[in-house]
Amino acid sequence: MAKLDVWSKYRMNSGHEIPVLGFGVYQTPANVAEDVTQYAIKTGYRHVDSATVYRNESSSAAGILRAGVPRSELFFTSKVPPRSVNYKDAKACVDESLRKTGLDYIDLYLIHAPYGGKSGRLGAWKALTEAVEEGKVKSIGVSNYGVHHLDELEEHIKNIEEKEGTGKGGVLSINQVELHPWLARGDIVQWCEKRGVLLEAYSPLVRAQRMNDSRLVSLSKKYNKTPAQILVRWSLQMGFVPLPKSITHSRIEENANVYDFELNAEDMKQLETSEYSPCAWDPTTSRD
Ligand SMILES: NC(=O)c1ccc[n+]([C@@H]2O[C@H](COP(=O)([O-])OP(=O)(O)OC[C@H]3O[C@@H](n4cnc5c(N)ncnc54)[C@H](OP(=O)(O)O)[C@@H]3O)[C@@H](O)[C@H]2O)c1
Repeated sequence: MAKLDVWSKYRMNSGHEIPVLGFGVYQTPANVAEDVTQYAIKTGYRHVDSATVYRNESSSAAGILRAGVPRSELFFTSKVPPRSVNYKDAKACVDESLRKTGLDYIDLYLIHAPYGGKSGRLGAWKALTEAVEEGKVKSIGVSNYGVHHLDELEEHIKNIEEKEGTGKGGVLSINQVELHPWLARGDIVQWCEKRGVLLEAYSPLVRAQRMNDSRLVSLSKKYNKTPAQILVRWSLQMGFVPLPKSITHSRIEENANVYDFELNAEDMKQLETSEYSPCAWDPTTSRD
């Protein structure tokens, strides 16, 4: 694995770069989001993961812009809400995110969940593809897509490309799913890695529910790092883009202070639990 630091980036299938460490703002109240996102950028994060349903796009974007870093170095994500997964609503959603944030473009726009049935999903994808063509969005992707949803999208893209040419069906850059040692999602990870689709790891800290796990505590002592830092490091070494969330300044720093150690292969292995234990919702299994 190439040596990473807080400013490291990966290149997505779209050709654009994404900062490897993201800052999550789910459940961050709008009146706190401006402060914490500004603090995160000052700490070294360059990437903020928001969503229409988080109701903090406007304040999160204000925070990152106030931090004094050029826009070209910042990376802002938003998402089509689960109830708007169709062509018309997804189109309106992108425009609304641009209006609320005041940004000229959004770096990454995702379909938040594979709801809305096949026609809804493919319609929302078409809307995002058009948003890229119009310069409103740089890269697009999905969230909470299981392998069957990914197969459906891949087939759709292939069909369009056969008729209209390469890239015309949209370029899948990201699948954002819950990922941590208690939910390693081998099938989804393998599907994405085979195609160069990057995995964003949400709830990488397992929402702080496993901080007393004996394996984590013992690794924490061994490396002289906190359990949260062990989890972020695990995610980075798995090749994911972790999105730790915090509204606490000291934890925002702590979660980014993970570049002065490396878990060895044996310790990475120790964190393989083979459990399937989501701590959030799990739309990857939805079948509508
Ligand atoms: N696409 C989706 O469906 C989806 C779903 C869930 C999440 N996400 C994204 O992923 C991000 C992260 O996931 P998440 O918010 O569910 O959970 P998370 O990042 O795993 O955990 C956040 C929780 O951990 C606490 N925490 C943070 N740093 C800590 C530390 N160093 N030590 C102890 N506790 C710590 C936070 O508390 P404080 O904030 O009080 O410090 C908060 O309660 C979200 O914010 C969102 O951007 C996406």
